[in-house]
Amino acid sequence: MEGFAGKVAVVTGAGSGIGQALAIELARSGAKLAISDVDTEGLARTEDQLKAIGTQVKTDRLDVTERAAFLAYADAVNEHFGKVNQIYNNAGIAFTGDVEVSQFKDIERVMDVDFWGVVNGTKAFLPHLIASGDGHVINISSVFGLFSVPGQAAYNSAKFAVRGFTEALRQEMVLAGHPVRVTTVHPGGIRTAIARNASAAEGLDQAELASAFDKRVARTSPQRAAHIILAAVRRNKARVLVGPDAKVLDLLVRLTGSGYQGVFLPVVSRLIPR
Ligand SMILES: NC(=O)c1ccc[n+]([C@@H]2O[C@H](COP(=O)([O-])OP(=O)(O)OC[C@H]3O[C@@H](n4cnc5c(N)ncnc54)[C@H](O)[C@@H]3O)[C@@H](O)[C@H]2O)c1
Repeated sequence: MEGFAGKVAVVTGAGSGIGQALAIELARSGAKLAISDVDTEGLARTEDQLKAIGTQVKTDRLDVTERAAFLAYADAVNEHFGKVNQIYNNAGIAFTGDVEVSQFKDIERVMDVDFWGVVNGTKAFLPHLIASGDGHVINISSVFGLFSVPGQAAYNSAKFAVRGFTEALRQEMVLAGHPVRVTTVHPGGIRTAIARNASAAEGLDQAELASAFDKRVARTSPQRAAHIILAAVRRNKARVLVGPDAKVLDLLVRLTGSGYQGVFLPVVSRLIPR
């Protein structure tokens, strides 16, 4: 795939899964990359692959919840490459637990990484994207930003919030006449380490949850996900649904309104052990 030659792209959470696949696909499309993660070993593996492609790459440990570090990082990336064209706010974590048994700290942690991480990245890079004259913010929500399921209140909250934030931003950029496009991404089940990296409320078997996700939910490869996301970025889509499951679920929610809750309940109960 061509089309990003000379562009500078920033990918958070690039040490694994969708972020790693995005970085590799962007590199193959000619982009220069700034990659970051808290997992420095995974990040080094991504860097090796980018170097093998012959890409210019800047690699940094960055925790997306650390706002001051994110702001300094944005300036450093801009200085390093002379401009920034795209940010993929991709870093994320998952947590399973009913509201009744979840601790405040568990819910706050998911909001910190999955929502505030996206806000930090968007606001840190926005001035540079505007200055580039050709910017794009790509924020990773989830199908769980389109509908809610039991046991995912924290993750649902963060991913709905990412969607609300990003859809408002897209309209604001148009109104302000800024040269920044904005895309919200809603992946369905993607075969990554997300469930194995996740945590769960006390009493739940995290290994069993991860195994159920890997066997029954994760259908689309991260490479395919990256391909779909980048095709949507090229076409400046407002919203991208990743995977056939995402498309079917989105349609069902739109057809049934809040009625989806009654339809999904037995299906979710079968897919995810409780
Ligand atoms: N896998 C799926 O089915 C799926 C579905 C919908 C949405 N998503 C979203 O896609 C994004 C990527 O997830 P993935 O599936 O590739 O998972 P993954 O666990 O394979 O990768 C996520 C990466 O984010 C990094 N990360 C976690 N916390 C961080 C922090 N505070 N700062 C910086 N990096 C951090 C992890 O170290 C990891 O490398 C996430 O936002 C996730 O919510 C995934």
